[in-house]
Amino acid sequence: MAGPFLMGYLMGSIPFGLLLTRGAGLGDIRKVGSGNIGATNVLRTGRKGLAAATLLLDALKGVVAVLIADQVGQIAAVGAAAGAVLGHMFPVWLGFKGGKGVATTLGIMWGLSWPVGAIACGAWLAIAAAFRYSSLAALLSVVVAAVAAWFLTDPRAAMLLTLLVPLVWVRHHENIARLLNGTESKIGGGKKQAA
Ligand code: G3P
Repeated sequence: MAGPFLMGYLMGSIPFGLLLTRGAGLGDIRKVGSGNIGATNVLRTGRKGLAAATLLLDALKGVVAVLIADQVGQIAAVGAAAGAVLGHMFPVWLGFKGGKGVATTLGIMWGLSWPVGAIACGAWLAIAAAFRYSSLAALLSVVVAAVAAWFLTDPRAAMLLTLLVPLVWVRHHENIARLLNGTESKIGGGKKQAA
């Protein structure tokens, strides 16, 4: 379990949003918008391609970590999945100050159980289309996916996805406050200042 967890952690800790925006000469994404290193905040730079690449790579690192560990077994896959999300949220390279874990959580869902991943993405897209808030879509889709996981996949994977719900919510505490006071920025709604 420790080996797969560490492998997942190291893969998850690669801060693609930060690397891609720096590579594109945009400076430090942590000084833009919400200050997050994820795709939603990269989108606030106006670079849709970079945002899409961030989303894809942050998800892929979760998928790949799980699929590699799955060669050993389901427990290893769950360990790698946990490591990948924690690596993204608390990367050693950034002083343990990482992202909110949504794309990587979607990635591990696809790796652990593609139907759960598909349900999570479907829920995210539907909620985002209806309300235009990336954070709200993330907050609700992880709950939907965790519930679905208890019916569709291994209980150990379902337990992990359930435990990740409060973690993702805590990582979004500033977004939740903004949603409640009406100041959360909408997808495509332009830039806002770093919190
Ligand atoms: O995936 C992160 C998203 O839910 C919120 O991002 O930049 O608006 O805090 P952001």
